[in-house]
Amino acid sequence: MSETTNTTAKSGDRQIGGVPIYLDDVCKTYPSGKGAAVENLTMDIPAGEIVVLVGPSGCGKTTSMRMINRLIEPTSGKIMIDGKDAMSLDDVKLRRTIGYVIQQIGLFPHLSIAQNVALVPKMLKMDKKHIESKVDEMLDVVGLPPEEYRDRYPRQLSGGQQQRVGVARALAADPPVMLMDEPFGAVDPITRAKLQDQFLEVQKTLGKTIVFVTHDFDEAIKMGDRIAVLRAGSKIAQYGTPQEILTHPADDFVSGFIGSGVTFKRLNLERIQDVDLRPVADADGSDSTVRSTASLNAALDTMLGEGNDALRVMEGDKAIGSIHLSDVMKRVKEMRDDRDRAAKATGSVHE
Ligand SMILES: Nc1ncnc2c1ncn2[C@@H]1O[C@H](COP(=O)(O)OP(=O)(O)O)[C@@H](O)[C@H]1O
Ligand SMILES: [Mg+2]
Repeated sequence: MSETTNTTAKSGDRQIGGVPIYLDDVCKTYPSGKGAAVENLTMDIPAGEIVVLVGPSGCGKTTSMRMINRLIEPTSGKIMIDGKDAMSLDDVKLRRTIGYVIQQIGLFPHLSIAQNVALVPKMLKMDKKHIESKVDEMLDVVGLPPEEYRDRYPRQLSGGQQQRVGVARALAADPPVMLMDEPFGAVDPITRAKLQDQFLEVQKTLGKTIVFVTHDFDEAIKMGDRIAVLRAGSKIAQYGTPQEILTHPADDFVSGFIGSGVTFKRLNLERIQDVDLRPVADADGSDSTVRSTASLNAALDTMLGEGNDALRVMEGDKAIGSIHLSDVMKRVKEMRDDRDRAAKATGSVHE
């Protein structure tokens, strides 16, 4: 078990396969641009965490991210990957260290799915047998059975399936770092939610260091162990855990970005296993169940949807307790009180 106090519920018992990244006073000015696209960005990205860069379009997210794998060269400042200056790494080493997933997916249409996934391992000159088994393994990891998908071509897949191939391709060289630039942006909301869930599941066992870019704050709180809310010039408005940002937004810019429905966003973050459960017998007479890893929001959904105010909480096949509508409502009330207190505290500054 981790003992650091800033570990989030999401990162709990996760393996760490990633390495830390440090951006040190990084700037980027495009020759043709007005002003800096990235201005003095300093940021610590811990190993094994998903750090989300979120901010309005044009604020510098993509530029910040692409400097990490040197697709864009910083004008000044330094980027350290596992303690080494990114500028000193050669291309092969960089590809081995960093996987990259983009919104436009970028699969080669004339290559089969297997060939697409094998691109980086081939560049790295891994041996053929090893590449074949790696490709199958990665297709399995992203939920595309290799015997069915290996020999298809990108156009024979749906948008969501193509996104998965994009993720499999980035994972294929088993890099400790992944850069994901709006990776699930090109699909419908339901497919996106599935891809997000599945990726979080994969990350639990891989524990990579992931820099994840999105303009969608809800995606940021779902995916992030930590979130950097950015304003123009990649200036950090706030850097913290989703809980910290939702409960104590640093300023009006951050609050504006969070948008409405804060309580529901927080309910989405809390797992059923994190609240005090009642004895199983308290849900006698109810045949509704919910998994212990589900969110409080999911519990509420099940209660309202199935018309049962008590749910048995399951771990595998076993009921480990129960939860009642009043337990969820109690948390909602605590969150509201919390928020009112925070608002009062901020308000008093102006009085
Ligand atoms: N190749 C380029 N040449 C000139 N300006 C650019 C280039 N790429 C991005 N920019 C500008 O830099 C700023 C940041 O862009 P970008 O990093 O793509 O933002 P985001 O990913 O947050 O939407 C924007 O003002 C954009 O117009
Ligand atoms: Mg972008």
